[in-house]
Amino acid sequence: MFVTLDAEAVAVLRCPLCKAHLQSRTDSFVCELCASTYGTYAIDTGSGKESIYDFRIHRPSYCCPAGWSEWDDKQDLYEDTYRDLSNVDNYDTYAREISGVATIYTEQFVIAGKVLDVGGNIGKLRHFLTDAVSLYVSVDPYLNILSDMALRRNLLKAYPCLHKPLNFLAGCGESLPLAEGSFDWVHMRSVLDHFYDPWIVLKEARRVLKPGGRLLIGLRVAGALGSKQGDTAVQHRIASTIYRARTKLRQEGIPGLCKGLAARIRSLGREPDDHMWHWTYANLKDVLLRVGFAVEKEYWQQSCRYDPSCIYVSARRDTPPEIGIE
Ligand SMILES: C[S@@+](CC[C@H](N)C(=O)[O-])C[C@H]1O[C@@H](n2cnc3c(N)ncnc32)[C@H](O)[C@@H]1O
Ligand SMILES: [Zn+2]
Repeated sequence: MFVTLDAEAVAVLRCPLCKAHLQSRTDSFVCELCASTYGTYAIDTGSGKESIYDFRIHRPSYCCPAGWSEWDDKQDLYEDTYRDLSNVDNYDTYAREISGVATIYTEQFVIAGKVLDVGGNIGKLRHFLTDAVSLYVSVDPYLNILSDMALRRNLLKAYPCLHKPLNFLAGCGESLPLAEGSFDWVHMRSVLDHFYDPWIVLKEARRVLKPGGRLLIGLRVAGALGSKQGDTAVQHRIASTIYRARTKLRQEGIPGLCKGLAARIRSLGREPDDHMWHWTYANLKDVLLRVGFAVEKEYWQQSCRYDPSCIYVSARRDTPPEIGIE
């Protein structure tokens, strides 16, 4: 069994739209206040059928807000890429992934209490969580993320935590199906650039945190390490090109470098991008302050592929900000 809904998770469930208490029915939760029903969706985990609760907001296409179809397309692209990578199921890749972030979760930031992972995917974060964590919930709109889990043998070998049933709620960070003041930590890794509306997601994170609760964001940003400017995908691309060029030169010498650069130039403008946003360091710091968080700690990931542009920032839920929004 890969999916669960523990009693502690059910206790904090609320309507994602109006935040009212929900009525529990067979295979659904119902909000009488705003007349919404949240049903189940069947997935095949590779070792049997399981149900997940779908707390996404379903509306007719003629009612979708501007920009929603762009998010939908990018999410489709992300899901296609994820499926392709899942089929590869390479143990060494997972091991590298784990060692790349181990310091972050074992030394730099200590996560405890009740934890919400927004865009938490299959819950890999649990690899680093100790008994100090009493509840872990992943909220993610990717309905089929847990499909075929049992078949991904190397993934399960690298991340034994994935054998433990996951409190998974299909839903979006913009409309969390959760009660206010319920969590000690909200985690968002590599997701602030995927959201439809990051401002609302951060407000939602603040709402579901207990007073003094903490947010941990891991994100690739431009304008890294003191450089002031930079706002766009172009900066990310330049940084990654320089990094790859240096690696090629080191590993394959001048011929390898020339070949790599030629391939990069040929593919310019053709690489699909599944990100809605490209954040700068300055904007990340600014938005946290405006949403009502006080930044406590910053840590630049050492082993990042696009070194050194991945930052982890923890921020405490603070008193309301006094600055206005232009
Ligand atoms: C790059 S993955 C990161 C997954 C995970 N946090 C990790 O670090 O392994 C981005 C995740 O964000 C999810 N996502 C996209 N839009 C979202 C939204 N509006 N609310 C919550 N999650 C979202 C995707 O489904 C995907 O699982
Ligand atoms: Zn409701």
